[in-house]
Amino acid sequence: MTYAATATIDLSALRLNFAQVQKTAPASKIMAVIKANGYGHGIIPVASALRNLANAFAVAQLEEAIKLREAGFSQRIILLQGFTDKQELLMLSELEVDAVIHQPEQIQILLTNPLQKPIYAWLKLETGMHRLGFRSHQMMGIYQQLANCKSITGSPGCLSHFSNADNPSDPKTLAQLKYFQEKTHTLNSAKSIANSAGIIAWPQSHFDWIRPGIMLYGVSPLQDKYGKDLGLQPVMTLSTQVIAIQNIRQGEKIGYGETWEAAKDTKIAILGIGYGDGYPRSAQNGTPVLINGKPFPLVGCVSMDSISVDIGEENITVGESAILWGDDLPVEKIAACAATIPYELVCRVSERVYKKIKNDHG
Ligand SMILES: Cc1ncc(COP(=O)(O)O)c(C=O)c1O
Repeated sequence: MTYAATATIDLSALRLNFAQVQKTAPASKIMAVIKANGYGHGIIPVASALRNLANAFAVAQLEEAIKLREAGFSQRIILLQGFTDKQELLMLSELEVDAVIHQPEQIQILLTNPLQKPIYAWLKLETGMHRLGFRSHQMMGIYQQLANCKSITGSPGCLSHFSNADNPSDPKTLAQLKYFQEKTHTLNSAKSIANSAGIIAWPQSHFDWIRPGIMLYGVSPLQDKYGKDLGLQPVMTLSTQVIAIQNIRQGEKIGYGETWEAAKDTKIAILGIGYGDGYPRSAQNGTPVLINGKPFPLVGCVSMDSISVDIGEENITVGESAILWGDDLPVEKIAACAATIPYELVCRVSERVYKKIKNDHG
């Protein structure tokens, strides 16, 4: 039997979401965030679909930048975590990839290893995320060092990142924005702070460059909203097949740990997908699964290779297809049923899930 789980990646939906980003922030350049294997959608198909649209690609790891260059992408690429040693710096220079500079060690590496081919640098300012970036008292000194460094081309850009932008009523985002403006307005730099939530909920955060990630994939960056509410189309549909039907009697219990008991006689469809494919083990009893367009509840614990769904008296047979998330079943809803975020669900669809690319001609 061929393995049933399939992630269908609709590149026309991706392009439509990109158009939505452009419409929302028409004056800004777009750095499409395609790290983590294009948020689990496949970095190469995603980059191909955006090849003539995005002004740049943002990735987290050097390997991702290498993969893009090896696949022939000549676009500007920004490495969000920058470099950690001399070899990585040389590689960035060789590949013509921009580096984010967020810690003093990187300045030392730059100053002690003059580059023949200078790179473009983005200076990261700490505005409240407390993850990567320089505090404001360090910022001007570092900026000057970068501006004077022969291995850096042009004026360094300035960027930062929002911590709470998924909640539009949280005052933290405005505070970060104000701080970023105050600390950078005198600099002759390209500026960037907006992720998807910023793009949608804080137009004043757009600046020169925006950095959309999750919204490109049709998923809402805002709490309590679905992508469709924001004019987005889900790019990924995760589906599988029914691999067995069980007749279960009242009182019988299902799966590992017997976490669900049948209240009456019923039929259970066993579907060929589990946590080994990236379906979340934390999905609760009642998490919806679509079979023939109709929602049925997940029952019992998610196994490595299968899940169980209570189909009652429904006439469903082995081989029928089922949707775990996608167009009519938002991944945001499944994330809520699994006490996680949709980012995690799309990112962790595993290698063994067949990736079917749809509408790859732009
Ligand atoms: C530095 C940076 N910018 C932009 C993004 C894109 O964020 P989002 O997917 O919420 O749009 C990320 C994602 O984690 C990020 O780390």
